[in-house]
Amino acid sequence: MSKIVILNGSPRKNGNTAALVREFIKGAEENGHEIHHFQLSDMNIHGCISCYRGNNSRECPCTQQDDMNKIYPHVRDCNVIVLASPMYYWNISGYLKTCIDRLFALEEGYVNILRGHGRGSVLLMPAFEHDYDACAFYYKNLAKNLGWKDLGWVLAGGNCMIGDINGKSVLKEAYELGKSIK
Ligand SMILES: Cc1cc2nc3c(=O)[nH]c(=O)nc-3n(C[C@H](O)[C@H](O)[C@H](O)COP(=O)(O)O)c2cc1C
Repeated sequence: MSKIVILNGSPRKNGNTAALVREFIKGAEENGHEIHHFQLSDMNIHGCISCYRGNNSRECPCTQQDDMNKIYPHVRDCNVIVLASPMYYWNISGYLKTCIDRLFALEEGYVNILRGHGRGSVLLMPAFEHDYDACAFYYKNLAKNLGWKDLGWVLAGGNCMIGDINGKSVLKEAYELGKSIK
């Protein structure tokens, strides 16, 4: 059984990212995985202040005390990190980027906690258009540098308004991706 952390960077709780996340969870739950889903827009998460004073010997390693403290303990021992975000200006959303920056605190200390450890990663991303080059590069590069194995992605172009994604095959792709997690 894997422990899966989902970092959801969409502010629309019933939007297109949410639909992909829902299907992914459905597939993953069928195999009994432990899932922790964080709706980042509902959380009080500040931007990294670049203090370089984090220390990952603490369960919550950052000097800032905010809702990242709910995320750190789960990222520490998770097997899979799911990055879920709408495409915003050919990138991930600010909610997700801010959270990823704050994960830096898990890298500060004697033993690196964020990198490697056999972790896998996933990207779930809807967008209005189909221009995924920048996002694909960002995601692959992040995973490569953090030593995460890319387990797959669902890039769902052609979806703008809430509900646009309903009935589309990308939802099945998200379900199958969830189901494929070992
Ligand atoms: C601030 C903002 C920026 C966006 N930038 C892009 C973009 O660069 N490319 C694109 O194809 N769609 C873009 N979109 C459209 C969203 O990616 C699309 O509506 C997506 O389905 C929203 O997902 P959600 O329902 O989970 O919020 C943007 C939307 C917003 C609100």
